[in-house]
Amino acid sequence: METNIPELASCQRCALSKTRTRVVIGSGPDSPSLMVIGEAPGKNEDEGGEPFIGRSGQLLFRLLEEETGLLRSDCFVTNVVKCRPPNNRTPNKTELGACRPWLDSQFIAVSPQFVLALGNTASRAVFDHTEPIGAVHGKVISLGPVRGMATYHPAAALRQGPSVVDVMRQDLRILKTLLGKQ
Ligand code: URA
Repeated sequence: METNIPELASCQRCALSKTRTRVVIGSGPDSPSLMVIGEAPGKNEDEGGEPFIGRSGQLLFRLLEEETGLLRSDCFVTNVVKCRPPNNRTPNKTELGACRPWLDSQFIAVSPQFVLALGNTASRAVFDHTEPIGAVHGKVISLGPVRGMATYHPAAALRQGPSVVDVMRQDLRILKTLLGKQ
C-alpha cells in the first residue's frame, strides 16, 4: 500500500512539481520491520513511480536480503523528497522543508519497527545528523519508540565500489541483530 495521503500525489508545494513526471510516494506494508528512506527519486523512479527501481535499488535490496533476510516486500520504501530534482541534483533546503510534512505523516502512518536512512541527505533529515555519513553510519539512534540507523547510499557504493559495499554489509548486520531482538 502507499499510505493513505491522497493529496501527496498532486503536491505543488515546491518547484520540483513543475519538472517531475510524477510524485514517487513510496509503498510497502503497514507496521513493517523496516522503513527504508532514500534521498529523492532518480530518472527510473520518476518514470516508473516507485522508489529504488534502478541500479541503486537492485544493489540495496540484494545486500539487505543477503545480510538480514528481509525482502523489499517486507519493507516500506520511500524518499525524503518525493519528486525528482532536475539532473538528480541534491534536494535544496526549500525542497527538503516543503516535503518534510509528507515524510512525517508517512512515518506515523507506517509505524515501522526500525528505520534505515540512506546517505547524507536522509541521515540529516531523519536523525538530524550533522556529521557526514562516514562518521555516523551504523550508529543506532532512537526516534521515540522507533530505532534507526543510517548507512551509505547504494549509489555511493556503485560509484566507490567494494569498500563501501563492505561497510554497508557491516551496518546491515547490526540491523539484523537489532531486528532479531524485537
Ligand atoms: N536514489 C534515491 O535516493 N531514491 C530512489 O528512489 C532512487 C535512487
